[in-house]
Amino acid sequence: MALPVPPKTELDPPRALSAAEALTPLISSTYTSPDITFYLNGRRTILSNPNPHWTLLDYIRAQPNLKGTKLGCGEGGCGACTVVLQVPDVQTRGSEKRRVKHLAVNACLFPLLGIDGKHVITVEGIGSVEKPHPLQERIAKLHGSQCGFCTPGIIMSLYALVRNVYDPETQIFRLSERDIELEGHLDGNLCRCTGYKPILQAAKTFVTEDLKGKLAEETTGKDMKLEAEGVDLVQNGYGNTVKGSCGRPGGCCRDAPSDNSSTDSKSSTSTPPTEALSILDDEPIPANLGIKGDPLQDLSVSGAAYTKPMKNKENQLSDAEVKASTSLDALTMGSRDGLPKVQFKEYVPGTELIFPHALWKFEPKALCYGNEKKIWFRPTTLQQLVDLKDVYPSAKLVGGASEVQVEVRFKNSDFAVSVYVSDIPELKETKLPPDAELISAEEIVLAANTPLTELESICNEVYAKLGKRAMVLRALGKQLRCFAGRQIRNVASLAGNIATASPISDTNPVLVASGARLVARSKGKGSFQLPMSEFFVAYRTTTLPPDAIISHIRIPLPNSGSREVLKAYKQAKRKDDDIAIVTSSFRVRLDAGGNVKDICLVYGGMAPTTKEASKSKAALLGKKWLSSETLEAGLAALNTDFDLDYGVPGGMAHYRKTLALSLFFRFWHESAVDLELGKVDSQVINEIHRNISTGARDNYNPNEQRVVGKQVPHISALKQCTGEAEYIDDMPRQERELFGGLVLSSKAHANLVSVDWAPALEMRGVVGYIDRNSIPKEANVWGSIRKDEPFFAEDKVLHHGQVIGMVYAETALQAQAAAKAVKIVYEELPTILTIDEAIEAKSFFDHGKDLKKGAAISGTLSQAFAQCYRIFEGTTRIGGQEHFYLETNAALVIPSNEDGFMEVWSSTQNTMETQEFVSQVTGTPSSRINARVKRMGGAFGGKESRSVPFACYLAIAAKKEKRPMRLMLNRDEDMLLSGQRHPIQARWKVGVSKEGKLLALDADIYDNAGYSQDMSGAVMDRCITHFDNCYEIPHVFLRGHVCRTNIHSNTAFRGFGAPQGMYFAETIMYNISEGLGIDVDELRQRNLYKPGDWTPFFQKIDEDWHVPIILDQLRKSSEYERRKKSVADFNSKNRWKKRGICLVPTKFGLSFATALHLNQAGAYIKIYHDGSVLLHHGGTEMGQGLYTKMCQVAAQELGVPLDSIYTQDSQTYQIANASPTAASSGSDLNGMAVKNACDQINERLKPYREQFGKDAPLRTLVHAAYLDRVNLAANGFWKMPRIGYKWGDYDKETVKPMYYYFTQGAGVTEVELDLLTGDHTVLRTDLVMDVGNSINPAIDYGQIEGAFIQGQGLFTIEESLWTRSGELFTRGPGTYKIPGFSDIPQIFNVSMLRQDVDGKPLTWNHLRSVQSSKGIGEPPLFLGSAVFFALREAVKAAREMNGERVDGGWKLDSPATAERLRLAVGDDLARRAEVKRKEGETSFFVTVA
Ligand SMILES: Cc1cc2nc3c(=O)[nH]c(=O)nc-3n(C[C@H](O)[C@H](O)[C@H](O)COP(=O)(O)OP(=O)(O)OC[C@H]3O[C@@H](n4cnc5c(N)ncnc54)[C@H](O)[C@@H]3O)c2cc1C
Ligand code: FES
Ligand code: FES
Repeated sequence: MALPVPPKTELDPPRALSAAEALTPLISSTYTSPDITFYLNGRRTILSNPNPHWTLLDYIRAQPNLKGTKLGCGEGGCGACTVVLQVPDVQTRGSEKRRVKHLAVNACLFPLLGIDGKHVITVEGIGSVEKPHPLQERIAKLHGSQCGFCTPGIIMSLYALVRNVYDPETQIFRLSERDIELEGHLDGNLCRCTGYKPILQAAKTFVTEDLKGKLAEETTGKDMKLEAEGVDLVQNGYGNTVKGSCGRPGGCCRDAPSDNSSTDSKSSTSTPPTEALSILDDEPIPANLGIKGDPLQDLSVSGAAYTKPMKNKENQLSDAEVKASTSLDALTMGSRDGLPKVQFKEYVPGTELIFPHALWKFEPKALCYGNEKKIWFRPTTLQQLVDLKDVYPSAKLVGGASEVQVEVRFKNSDFAVSVYVSDIPELKETKLPPDAELISAEEIVLAANTPLTELESICNEVYAKLGKRAMVLRALGKQLRCFAGRQIRNVASLAGNIATASPISDTNPVLVASGARLVARSKGKGSFQLPMSEFFVAYRTTTLPPDAIISHIRIPLPNSGSREVLKAYKQAKRKDDDIAIVTSSFRVRLDAGGNVKDICLVYGGMAPTTKEASKSKAALLGKKWLSSETLEAGLAALNTDFDLDYGVPGGMAHYRKTLALSLFFRFWHESAVDLELGKVDSQVINEIHRNISTGARDNYNPNEQRVVGKQVPHISALKQCTGEAEYIDDMPRQERELFGGLVLSSKAHANLVSVDWAPALEMRGVVGYIDRNSIPKEANVWGSIRKDEPFFAEDKVLHHGQVIGMVYAETALQAQAAAKAVKIVYEELPTILTIDEAIEAKSFFDHGKDLKKGAAISGTLSQAFAQCYRIFEGTTRIGGQEHFYLETNAALVIPSNEDGFMEVWSSTQNTMETQEFVSQVTGTPSSRINARVKRMGGAFGGKESRSVPFACYLAIAAKKEKRPMRLMLNRDEDMLLSGQRHPIQARWKVGVSKEGKLLALDADIYDNAGYSQDMSGAVMDRCITHFDNCYEIPHVFLRGHVCRTNIHSNTAFRGFGAPQGMYFAETIMYNISEGLGIDVDELRQRNLYKPGDWTPFFQKIDEDWHVPIILDQLRKSSEYERRKKSVADFNSKNRWKKRGICLVPTKFGLSFATALHLNQAGAYIKIYHDGSVLLHHGGTEMGQGLYTKMCQVAAQELGVPLDSIYTQDSQTYQIANASPTAASSGSDLNGMAVKNACDQINERLKPYREQFGKDAPLRTLVHAAYLDRVNLAANGFWKMPRIGYKWGDYDKETVKPMYYYFTQGAGVTEVELDLLTGDHTVLRTDLVMDVGNSINPAIDYGQIEGAFIQGQGLFTIEESLWTRSGELFTRGPGTYKIPGFSDIPQIFNVSMLRQDVDGKPLTWNHLRSVQSSKGIGEPPLFLGSAVFFALREAVKAAREMNGERVDGGWKLDSPATAERLRLAVGDDLARRAEVKRKEGETSFFVTVA
């Protein structure tokens, strides 16, 4: 192979070239082909000598029509890049019944070379909007896609599953709901929007309905059995017995039959009437779902009957209507009597993509390609590999690449020679001996690069055949089930795990404990063995010689009859797809007398290597195993084996030690039970168990109108499911386009001594560089509220990751590499990271807003406190939260040759600010800047302001070069740069009466703003105006402070300070309850607002106050009181698990609070000659369904079907001065503006309606109007009336409300906590929200569920960590955990408040919003705190049992991580493991709340 000669200007030594020289003889003798041959979506493709830096994702996304596969993280942690590889099943090769396998893989990690001889299937390959795959259709129609960025990846994971379980011979599927949910097929996919429930429902109903009759018998029975094992969970929110019900709209085949089903319903199953629902009166009657048959067509929604106006309230399902041809976004959805109707395509397995015939005969060749920087080899035999390693020992072997590619991408590792080993049959194929030999086998020999999923099956298979003798494989299988995500397990290998030698490897402890040996091979030594117990010599260092490879792993099996037990345990931050905090494997062998003959206790996460506890071994050998002294000796010795320092790298010293003891404690008990040694407390053994999730929505909408109020799917849902929906980075490449790479500060606080970008400019493909010198000094400043932040760092950097400059180049990879080559010299300065440090240093931004009520106004608050029966005080903290929208910030700027005009595409919630600041930095009037956004892959507030600078950087460069510029941040850059939810601390004091009535509240509240203000002041305003939550307090003084620190600038995030404020309120309630001994629910009840009460911001609680009704209804529907008792009962009987239950209310104020000017919106409607309607409004679509709702409003008002309304994007050329889409007010503001535009048009069309009749087609009306020269375009506008609060106005007569209305709700959650590990599961959640008259209940349910799960994450597993030097450590899905599929409540019921206290339809006396709906995006998020408070109750029960304080003198800060929960239990194990802080020692990580 001829490698290109490197250009003279290249700086880095062309290492691959010298490697190539050494390898030339091998290349010319063996590796003669540079061609990768494969099929892509059914098409044969040959890639000759491709870019060696490309992963499979890079290649796919470079193809013009394959943008459905997304880049979400680039590290295998989100699943957005999932594609399916169709490969022959090696086990069936050569047999008559040869089979293919479908492997879901992460294209972002997968080596391009690895697709040789395979069939790559992307989301585009399985269906399109015209012809969707049934899975795509189902996810779209059952609301499983909101922003859509995760959707193609999730669909591909499901696709692989469905195809793998089909047997073409028998035409039977071996698939159950259990497989969908509990077997880890979706554990490598994340979704930040939906809360997973609708995705699971779509997938599970696909199994129970589409595949009905085609399922293997054992799979249909399996689920029922498992669910019967469940705990006290058999009721859904409506009292139904729902064993196994998936709770999907319309009921499920498992629901008990009912005679209450709708007369229109074709479904034979439905939900029975219940006691709980009797309070709601309206039963959750099933929707009408059909699979086959004629499509349901609701002409009010789709069908291009747009030429015909339609009456309000009519529900037309007439087949007589003719559907004109049009490209419609809206899916065909019917509706009748307030119930959604859904029609699905039939699934026909025979129509699926087949494995290309030619690939059966494919003969893999030894491949080699590359350039002067990097060369790839793909040997096809073990000998070729060994020869190659002999010639070039530093060649990097690549198996699944799940470690290697992460090193390349995030650790800047650059391997000159990479060798793909996963296609070498000797390495990837484990062959088990025939059963007769297996039974007596003394060892199992695994091929080193056997994919982990195959290994998991092998473990299960061998264990099934050998039973306890194969307990090591049982333990290995258990570890593998919780190892990474499915896409990684499908390709990653044991050899990769072993050779990486990570101290937190999950498999290495099992292998060491079992006494496994590695078989290595090199040319010089041939085949030789290495014992695993001696393999790991130092951090990521092993005894494997550089020229050797691992070929096999030999795992010994104990003799039958031997008294031996081997187990494995793992504890991580999140159950699925997470690296361990501590992982372990223990083996004990007893002699006939029950004494320890051999023992091996091996830990990961306790030392720089996988480590055996040698002192413990010595202490335990020869001891009688079933004896408390032995247990005691083991615990004591472990304490000395792992005597971690307080500041140990990786942190969590106390927790890790506690886990080390706790896991051993569990093993001791479990082994005693397994060996039947005698009676021990078997409750210790059980780990947290999870069932298939169920739940329901009260789907019936009594207020449904012709279009508004219908459960119409998101109008882009199907496009999102087929990959056709376009995000910024999917837009076609522009001519002469360049890509930006940001130059970021590597220090948190430092003087910039010098910045040398010359090395970057010399790199290949680099075109230029910009920084603060590229724009006038006065233009280098921006900010949403106050302009205090430079676009480019000036003389100082103020946080780690601050933007210093931008390099631009021909490709994104070149730009990113060049940005890293800019040489920066810093002079470091001291940092302030935490709120405590900021208070200490008095480091604040000017803010100075406070709230006073009652005695505080007259300065006599101390007197109010003096009247109190008790006073409680505390400091409470809540950490921040990363937005983790799946699409990172992206922008594309296209300059025009004329007049300085620029088209600025940005993934932004804020077109106006984007336009304003692009105008500023380019010196071009705003009128020449068209800022546009079609959709975002999630935003949650994170793109309200922080998106702005990226468009500006590109605009500066675009203006300079007169070329289009594009940028999409990598996940780590996005997390470093774009800020988070504010960590907040409250120092509070509250006074109460003897009965627990709140009398006086005084608090200082501090948010950690970071290095600039952004919206931190406004966040604080919302925080203090939600500090009351739902409770009346006569005397209040709240002072907000905004801390200036050296972290990224924190910003808006769903809830905007309110969840933190309400969290403080509820924490205070628990403190009072515990201090006074009053039940917390009773305490809440006594303090609830009543109509006529005044909030601390002087807003009167009006008659629309529904929290008391909600609480009442929820208590009944969730059977709260009964379950509270059963939780207490459970706790009294269980020593190692505790449950908690909690009911929290919420009230959330709607409006842009005190930013009065933002409470306005515009809309523009144009009706064309054919009667079709173009709608623009100022709102942006981030998955929340705003476009869908706005189209519904327009269709309703204009009397046309939904699909005659078209919304293309949001842009400043259509709507000037649009407010950001935020504060849950998108529908309120824009909806009213849309209505206003419709009103104008309707007024103008009135004479024509009179002339042609009310049923005349719109086309007829507008044609006549046009001929009469009537303006058929209307500009709508609306400003929110009534509001206008002014700080410091305490006059009840003159003060104006801060909020237009309150969205209200409540949630009940029950949890179970494992006291040994801190692990938990949410058993059940019931939510009720008052959303007014929902414009689209399906979208609103989605918002409620999604917000709840996001809130659950905020209050439990999501934790940002910084290093002491101010570097953000949690910068990707590997270190920052958001909830996954298996974190959602096992039962999850959601309903909307529909009836008042007397059971009459609810009315809102003061609600003046569009269609009387309420904003819902943010309000439910706080209900996620119910998980926190329920966990707090569980911990409290444990503390009571352990004799610890529970009277308010203890605290649990948010998030309630497994670490915090475990350590709060206050038991003996945690006390023994305590790590004392020595003089001068600091913790490894810093949390900044
Ligand atoms: C998102 C994510 C989640 C993860 N979760 C976990 C987890 O839960 N638990 C855990 O333990 N690990 C986890 N890992 C780490 C990683 O997946 C494992 O270490 C995996 O087993 C590596 O296998 P691989 O085949 O992909 O290795 P590769 O990345 O291909 O290679 C890793 C190393 O092994 C070497 N190597 C590969 N094959 C051989 C061979 N035959 N002989 C000698 N050397 C060889 C390579 O040269 C390289 O140095 C995770 C990684 C990611 C990206
Ligand atoms: S982009 Fe590949 S897993 Fe996230
Ligand atoms: S829909 Fe899943 S991330 Fe947005």
